[in-house]
Amino acid sequence: MIKKDTKDQIFETARVEEVVGEFVNLKKRGKDYLGLCPFHNEKTPSFSVSPSKGIYKCFGCGKSGNSVTFLMEHEHYSYPEALHYLADKYNIEIEEEVETDEQKQAESEKESLFNLTEFASKYYIDQLFNTEKGKAIGLTYFKQRGFTEKTIKKFQLGYSPDEWDAFTRYALKSGYKLDYLEKAGFTIRNEHKQYDRFRNRVMFPIHSLTGRILGFGGRILSTDKKKPKYVNSPESEIYNKSKILYGLFFAKRKIIDEDNCFLVEGYTDVISLHQAGIENVVASSGTSLTEDQIRLIRRYTKNITILFDGDEAGLKASFRGIDMILEKGMHVNIVMYPPGEDPDSYAREHRPAEVREFIKNNSRNFILYKANLLLKESEGDPVKKASLAKELVNSVALIPNQIDRLAYIKQCSSLLDMPEQALVSEMNKVTRKRFKQQFRKEEAEDIPEPETAEAEQQEHYDPLDIKPQEKELIRLLLQYGNEDLIFEQEDQYGRKQEHSVKLAAFVLNDLRADEYEFTHDKCKSIYQVFIQHNDKGTLPNDREFMNNDDEELAKFAIDMVSSPYALSENWEKNRIFVNSERDHLKEAVISALFALKARKIEQMIKENQQKISRANNENEIIELMEIHKHLKAKSVEVNNKLGRIITR
Ligand code: GTP
Ligand code: MN
Repeated sequence: MIKKDTKDQIFETARVEEVVGEFVNLKKRGKDYLGLCPFHNEKTPSFSVSPSKGIYKCFGCGKSGNSVTFLMEHEHYSYPEALHYLADKYNIEIEEEVETDEQKQAESEKESLFNLTEFASKYYIDQLFNTEKGKAIGLTYFKQRGFTEKTIKKFQLGYSPDEWDAFTRYALKSGYKLDYLEKAGFTIRNEHKQYDRFRNRVMFPIHSLTGRILGFGGRILSTDKKKPKYVNSPESEIYNKSKILYGLFFAKRKIIDEDNCFLVEGYTDVISLHQAGIENVVASSGTSLTEDQIRLIRRYTKNITILFDGDEAGLKASFRGIDMILEKGMHVNIVMYPPGEDPDSYAREHRPAEVREFIKNNSRNFILYKANLLLKESEGDPVKKASLAKELVNSVALIPNQIDRLAYIKQCSSLLDMPEQALVSEMNKVTRKRFKQQFRKEEAEDIPEPETAEAEQQEHYDPLDIKPQEKELIRLLLQYGNEDLIFEQEDQYGRKQEHSVKLAAFVLNDLRADEYEFTHDKCKSIYQVFIQHNDKGTLPNDREFMNNDDEELAKFAIDMVSSPYALSENWEKNRIFVNSERDHLKEAVISALFALKARKIEQMIKENQQKISRANNENEIIELMEIHKHLKAKSVEVNNKLGRIITR
């Protein structure tokens, strides 16, 4: 047991922003820090760390605590483990009360496994540097590969001797239990014997984010094709290969500094690049990244550069895996190595400056690279080109950020020499389909609609998107602006009086009273022309839009009036609708105005809710809650009016 004095000292010394900052990319905001919450998946930061209070709190998922609870939650440390970690970090000497036997026994299984991996690592290092065979075989091998002693020590590389059970025997003799040796994967047991998993291999320990050893990869030294090149620790309480990345412990600080993470395939690629001075690098260990691994990188940066050492066919096979990275909102670049080279061999054969230069000069945006690659293949074949456009758009549609998406569409459009609009509408098809699938899945699982990440991914079909309502109003303006709406009013003697107002004037006055601002570009332009005319008491003439110099605006206006917006393409049906619409213009226009307002209020509510979830002082929250109540009341009022019109 750690003495109370020591505990107090640890709590007083640990700085929450430093402890959390090891794992989360924090940005200073006022006197606090803000970052992406490591406990749930989010795209806008709501994880706040307060140095003055010594605590963290996530306004998205509600997790909160101090330095110690953070380590327990995030690193799955036990309470004593967390204290040890902090004591180590802040150079505090731990004074222990004498442990009883029961306490010793109660030591968690994990801790035992960690003890064992630590012990094993020391053993493999000792074998490498201090035994004849280790030096002759293991150390020679590493040196031949160009690893310096400093590098070997930094990565704690080792050697497992060429004997059946040398390590198992040694560990048992040192008091480690066979049970744990098996669980951690060092010993394999069958009916006849027990033997070492790692024999005559050079050893690469795999570190946790805090530098503890989770497991090992052991590389064969012979060129025996029948044996696997690498043998790895099996999954255990402490080693879950889909949740770790080789090298991240050594890379994380640099990844934040450089705001980019290099991704390579193998252990040796990571190590060689480090030696060449490139430290923001991790290895996927030869497979494509899992979601957890992508999330792990995304904590530190949104930028990933894949150092790819295969041919184009190999890259094409990785497209799907890379799409998954895009989908997580990351920017992906790619560096292709010359045939026969990988990051390791290149780093060995070139000076560090040349390596950096090579990476810098050959780094390409993944989507554009993919576009070029596919384009080369479809040269002169229009059918192929069409399917290539689809393939590309599939990738682009995965990008959560709309601005990024449209930027890519623009570039692809000029690369493929295809109209932007065609690509956009293809992309919308994909998004819509995906959205529908997702929606159905969620309905089935009865999951409430996602608040953050997923909702953002679907801006196109965002239920809060106000553009359809804006378009509907503009359509009415264009199509029927000159029509008279008849209103009844009682005069001072109670007699009913009819008076007529032009539809355009009615709409414009209403929107002006609310100081409404259009968000849809073209709607806005059209609206402004109407306003200018209205001020002079005139109405714009149809042709003013349809023959406009601005081609896009003209096309938009034509679309608006030629097919009633958002209706079936069935001509007959349209006509029936259009006829009846003309008969009920007043209702149509009033309901369009209310629909716009209802949507606008919904948007304001949503924005306000986001503010609430980000607010971090009580007064602010109270104020925002007041606004929320007010908006809710308004929303009910408008929706009631809208409902009355629609159901009438
Ligand atoms: P060198 O050939 O020594 O340069 O090793 P490398 O680490 O570069 O390996 P390579 O590029 O062949 O493979 C990339 C990664 O895939 C390795 O680092 C391992 O993590 C993994 N890997 C390769 N071969 C095997 C294998 O036979 N078994 C398992 N489990 N993993 C392997
Ligand atoms: Mn290699």
